[in-house]
Amino acid sequence: MVVTVDGPGGAGKSTVSRALADRLGFAFLDTGALYRAVALAASWDQVEAVDPEAVAAWLPGVDIKAQPGPHSFQVLLQGRDVEPFIRNEHISQLASQLSSQPAVRTKLLELQRSAGRAGDLVAEGRDMGTVVFPDAEAKFFLTASQGERARRRWLELSQAGQQVEFDEVLADLEKRDQRDEERAISPLRPAADAEIVDTSHLSFGQVVEHLYQQVTRVRQGL
Ligand code: DC
Repeated sequence: MVVTVDGPGGAGKSTVSRALADRLGFAFLDTGALYRAVALAASWDQVEAVDPEAVAAWLPGVDIKAQPGPHSFQVLLQGRDVEPFIRNEHISQLASQLSSQPAVRTKLLELQRSAGRAGDLVAEGRDMGTVVFPDAEAKFFLTASQGERARRRWLELSQAGQQVEFDEVLADLEKRDQRDEERAISPLRPAADAEIVDTSHLSFGQVVEHLYQQVTRVRQGL
């Protein structure tokens, strides 16, 4: 069974999806990490992220894999776990630019689908329910107000020891929202059959519980 969780940045998708997968005993795939790993490779190789031809010519040489682990898929770039290097604002902006390139989306599409064939999965991203897993049995679209999402992202960065201004985080989020929503290919939008969950006034536990109950209902054929 595949469960999809889509939504804008800072809506709590990652934390919620990971906890949901744990509770269901499903594997977890963070597809944003795949786009971030491509961004890291682009920054290593100094590729012009906004140039579609340069990106398309460079991509075939990028060795990226999603390797099944005990709980979640691990993203490997040239065989290395790059998780510690992909969670910063520079990579966020670069990943957002690269994710609007058709060549990048095509390269990552099959990687994501093969994770779905490996067994029960919670897949989190922007186009899980619309493009990657259109036949998923349970689909959610998590959202929250822009201010609340910026506040959560700022808190997360601050707790990770990164000194950032709230206004800067909010401005970056606005830019990324706009790019995610307006890109021609796989724009961020809920699938027609997704349940939209506004998490602005819900605790993390409440959101996980709600999703768990919904998935359980689907599994029971209710
Ligand atoms: O969820 P995130 O912030 O880690 O995602 C990083 C970037 O990748 C974000 O700008 C949107 C993009 N992305 C995407 O276009 N499609 C996905 N399925 C996942 C992420």
